[in-house]
Amino acid sequence: ESYDMGGHDTYMHKEIAEQADAVDRVLRGRIDDRFATVHLGGLNLDAREARGVRRVKILGCGSAYHAGMIGAQLIEELARIPADAEPASEFRYRNAVVDPDTLYIAVSQSGETYDTLAAVQELKRKGARVLGVVNVVGSAIARETDGGVYVHAGPEVCVVSTKCFTNTAVAFALLALHLGRIRDLSVADGKRIIEGLRKLPEQISGILQDEAAIEKLAADYAQAKSMMFVGRVRGYPVAREASLKLKEVSYIHAEAYPASELKHGPLALIEPAVPTVAIIPDDELLDKNRATLEEIKARSGTILAVAHSEQEKADHTIVVPRNEPELDPILMGIPLQLLAYHTALALDRDIDKPRNLAKSVTVE
Ligand code: AGP
Repeated sequence: ESYDMGGHDTYMHKEIAEQADAVDRVLRGRIDDRFATVHLGGLNLDAREARGVRRVKILGCGSAYHAGMIGAQLIEELARIPADAEPASEFRYRNAVVDPDTLYIAVSQSGETYDTLAAVQELKRKGARVLGVVNVVGSAIARETDGGVYVHAGPEVCVVSTKCFTNTAVAFALLALHLGRIRDLSVADGKRIIEGLRKLPEQISGILQDEAAIEKLAADYAQAKSMMFVGRVRGYPVAREASLKLKEVSYIHAEAYPASELKHGPLALIEPAVPTVAIIPDDELLDKNRATLEEIKARSGTILAVAHSEQEKADHTIVVPRNEPELDPILMGIPLQLLAYHTALALDRDIDKPRNLAKSVTVE
């Protein structure tokens, strides 16, 4: 990959389009079919050490934090280690208790984000083991961590992260599978996840082929004065990331909430001029999510669902292909990158360089 535009009008569009290849690259050479696991050469964490990990704490900013939220869920689901993600910018200021049995993971595209780097340095000073999930090889965070997983998304130029977000989520799936197979994940489940991972590049290409339909939807949603993004559990980090994408590039105000929290306040905002994007995987929470759509409809809200099948209560549905449920968040965010892109295009925004933002925030 070069910095060439490759026939695209913007880097954002180019980078969205590159995702099938990028995901192929993060998987390449890492899958071990014989033991239904993956090899992560730079991890620097042997099996005995991995078994001793009691908690995982993931730190990053912006999209990296959202990818870390997906990572925490994957680690809990596949490795059954309690895990959570926190903005590195908050963590570094709150004099957190640093626990020797916790594995800390810093996430960053650039590897230079000051808040994340400062969190790593504080952790290292206190004797913690810190891994990196980083895109830029040899960057400051890659150098200061004890080991980690490179994301191999290739150069990301647009200020708005797309392919690196997706690849980071896939890198976390690899890490979760690796930790899971060292602990209690069965061979059958390991194989199931590997099959799912192998399907991703082709499924991503399929989603991207529906761009014309998403472009049409964007023309309508560009008129919104504000938008709500909701999802439950696996859908929630996707909602957060999609809301951030839309805000950054289109300047439309957007909020992201767990769907279960709507009735605790944000439902007051729902009206025809405030459409809701609902992330609705066909998992064990499908009925709950459908009930949420009914609540929104009862308040005359417009709904765009991202789901595995047409949703009757939604005004529009973007149907994404099924994979293994644990991997749903990786695919469900992709059409919403295109939605943000085409909404911004319809509003004539400066897509690669949104106002007030920098690609990497290397200052405090
Ligand atoms: C994403 O679209 C952003 N522009 C921003 O949130 C970014 O993810 C964040 O600043 C972290 O950057 P990093 O991954 O380079 O650390």
